[in-house]
Amino acid sequence: MVFQPTRGNLPARFGPGVPGVPAIGPTTLDAEVYRDPERYEQERIKVLNRSWQIICRSEQVAEPGDHHVWEGHGESIVITRREDGGLDGFHNVCAHRGARIVAESGTKARRFTCKWHNWAYDTEGRVTGVPDRPDFDATMLAGLCSPAVDVDEWGGWVWAVLAGPGVAGPLKDWIAPEVRDDLAAFRMEDMKLVEKVEWEVDVNWKVAIDAFSEYYHAQALHGMGGKEAKDARHSTMHVHGRNGMYFVPFLGVLEDLLRTLDHTRYAICNYQLFPTAVANCQALHTQVFRAVPLGVTKTRFEAWELRYETDENDDPEYLRQVDFFWEIYKAVVQQDIDEWTDVAATTHSSAYRTNILSKRECIIAHFHRVIEDMLAGGDGLGLEPAPAEDGADAPTG
Ligand code: FES
Ligand SMILES: [Fe+2]
Repeated sequence: MVFQPTRGNLPARFGPGVPGVPAIGPTTLDAEVYRDPERYEQERIKVLNRSWQIICRSEQVAEPGDHHVWEGHGESIVITRREDGGLDGFHNVCAHRGARIVAESGTKARRFTCKWHNWAYDTEGRVTGVPDRPDFDATMLAGLCSPAVDVDEWGGWVWAVLAGPGVAGPLKDWIAPEVRDDLAAFRMEDMKLVEKVEWEVDVNWKVAIDAFSEYYHAQALHGMGGKEAKDARHSTMHVHGRNGMYFVPFLGVLEDLLRTLDHTRYAICNYQLFPTAVANCQALHTQVFRAVPLGVTKTRFEAWELRYETDENDDPEYLRQVDFFWEIYKAVVQQDIDEWTDVAATTHSSAYRTNILSKRECIIAHFHRVIEDMLAGGDGLGLEPAPAEDGADAPTG
């Protein structure tokens, strides 16, 4: 039998007393945040390298010696599975003259060798072999090790902090508890990767995260029907810690939703995992969208489709439905990707100076405030607005 996620004791995200949108309100956002190269450099150092980010699925480094090479925002790291089942991670940069040590992900590694001059490394990144060692100054080689990255697992994902252990605190505290507990109900750790699709797009990484943090574009860009759009007005949006989440009722289930509060079954549940991922969860399957910054206006955009484990003979209908909806989702995501061509065309236009955000684009506004705070040396916490007036803007059926 396929696992069916349910709300259990989780707090309601719809219904009487639940504010529909946080009191962030309509606001503006400077266009420079998407095109200023100096700002991008600061984001690399102060935000991207100092945050827990999704790297790969745990199943991609399942066995001892399995290793995964990840590259993004000018960095290259290697994650390795230890004999004791834990993970190590280090910067994939040779201590000799800086070449990349490991070119590709693989299995059964016991050591790595930089192919330029054959310096050898153990799977934790320590230098274990230097050809012609007596030619070097021994003090320069003592204890040499490639800098470690912080690495952990949650939800079936491998996560890392590139600036190193301790910089971002424990992973379990990085995601706001409201978002973490809600997302945990979907048990991504029990899911399996169906497919990962990648695109290279000519927009800033935040354009992609913004696009998956609002539902406002669904009617214009994705052709959402009038009835759906009317129901979608009852979506609720929430910001907690550095994260945001929103819930959109499926077509024609609004009354069920308000009665049962089982939005895990009756709504799309969307969780922004600051800074570079968004999980789009439904009872049947989950998509995780990830933006990997490659330059100020270049991004690798990834869509990961996950489904629950099942025996093909047990649940052919489940597998058929997952395939069916995933094909639809891919076509929908392609519409977002295509739209970014028009965004890219005007990124540097003198006429593009600001963005005007509605109150329902509040997760975007919050996301950018968190980044702003981290650029100023803060931890991105404590920026939530005061709770909205009781039930303000709440769906009433
Ligand atoms: S740069 Fe790696 S061995 Fe020389
Ligand atoms: Fe979209």
